[in-house]
Amino acid sequence: MFTRTYWRVKKYNILAWLYDVRRYYYRSKRFALADMLMNMSYLYLNPYYISRKFSERNKDASSNTYGETPLKSLEILVDHFNIIKPKKILELGCGRGKTLFWLADRFDVEVVGIEMVPFFVHQANRIKDICRYNNMKIYRGDMFSFNMSSFDLIYCYGTCFDDKQIKDLLYSFKMCQRKTKIVTISYPLEDYDKSFTTESYCEVSFPWGTTMAYLNSHSG
Ligand SMILES: C[S@@+](CC[C@H](N)C(=O)[O-])C[C@H]1O[C@@H](n2cnc3c(N)ncnc32)[C@H](O)[C@@H]1O
Repeated sequence: MFTRTYWRVKKYNILAWLYDVRRYYYRSKRFALADMLMNMSYLYLNPYYISRKFSERNKDASSNTYGETPLKSLEILVDHFNIIKPKKILELGCGRGKTLFWLADRFDVEVVGIEMVPFFVHQANRIKDICRYNNMKIYRGDMFSFNMSSFDLIYCYGTCFDDKQIKDLLYSFKMCQRKTKIVTISYPLEDYDKSFTTESYCEVSFPWGTTMAYLNSHSG
């Protein structure tokens, strides 16, 4: 249940918590409470294991390799991409919801997460209610059939999707408004479809190494 990867990521997260999260991101009391509740509720639970078990039980679920965006990396890409005040943010595959809580706090706008693992959704919704993130919605469901057309910022950390899944997402992205910005990790959308443009990119780090983040838009 607790593999070597789990302990490596755990160590990374503890160091990040000591040096970055606690120091810089706990200035928001609401985020601090949400983050501490999340840490406590997963103290003896391994999200990687939960995610893997869900995939094993649901053979039709999309390939599901769990991972989390470090808050420092999230902040780097928000700053580098000059994301000022989106109106409505969507996170595709929001996992435990940490990114979502941070985005809701940073921008104070409506944020929506879609996630297929029921336990993650249940826990995140409990924390959301306790901390009164009233402008947040977390749905249990499949991102590939989710209507994204009303969002102007979409975050997608889906590095393990296959080409077919990425093409399915491109179809949904094309239904969005022209001004919608889509942040992807590791690959730009224009590599799959030339009607997308890479507006900017920057290097970000994850527990497994560094990669590029891309700000994409659809030229219609
Ligand atoms: C790599 S994790 C990213 C977690 C979070 N977005 C972050 O950056 O910290 C990908 C998440 O997407 C979820 N996921 C994968 N396929 C999905 C699908 N078809 N619909 C909804 N969620 C999905 C997984 O369960 C997992 O929690």
